[in-house]
Amino acid sequence: MEKFEFNKAERDHIEKIIARYPDSQSAVMPVLWMAQEKFGHVEPDVQKLVAKTLDLPEAHVYGVASFYTQYYKEKMGKYVLDVCTCLSCQVCGGYDMLHYIEEKLGIKAGETTEDGMFSIQSVECLGACGYAPMMQITNDIYVNHLDKAKVDKVIETLKQGKMPEFEPIPMRVAEKS
Ligand code: FES
Repeated sequence: MEKFEFNKAERDHIEKIIARYPDSQSAVMPVLWMAQEKFGHVEPDVQKLVAKTLDLPEAHVYGVASFYTQYYKEKMGKYVLDVCTCLSCQVCGGYDMLHYIEEKLGIKAGETTEDGMFSIQSVECLGACGYAPMMQITNDIYVNHLDKAKVDKVIETLKQGKMPEFEPIPMRVAEKS
């Protein structure tokens, strides 16, 4: 038995995904995502499984998986802190926040704490530049306008096994004339 496999129900689901597109190449992203939800990451052997399942060259799947930080290429911590260090976040202190988190957790970006609780990634723009500096937690919750106090609170909340509250992005409402 292979270390990583899709079961019959998953293979049937993948067939349905493929049917949505003109070719199986277009199904790489949703199938990689499905694989990550099942295995927790898409390490090289998982990428090979996706390539084999979609009958595609492994290099193609690797190309997609390696482009996006949202696909984890190795086993990650329970919580992955994606700290944006792209331009808008950078000028608003993104690197200061990244270094503060690194210091606080005792690891560098790209590493995981020994207890397996946290991984840190320095990532490109997450599309929330107006709320810089910001980070994303495990491809899910956005935390906006980071400062040290907010980072402390978020990490404390995560250590308790809870997710921080979702911060809705405020919408600009046109003033009534
Ligand atoms: S630069 Fe950080 S979200 Fe765009």
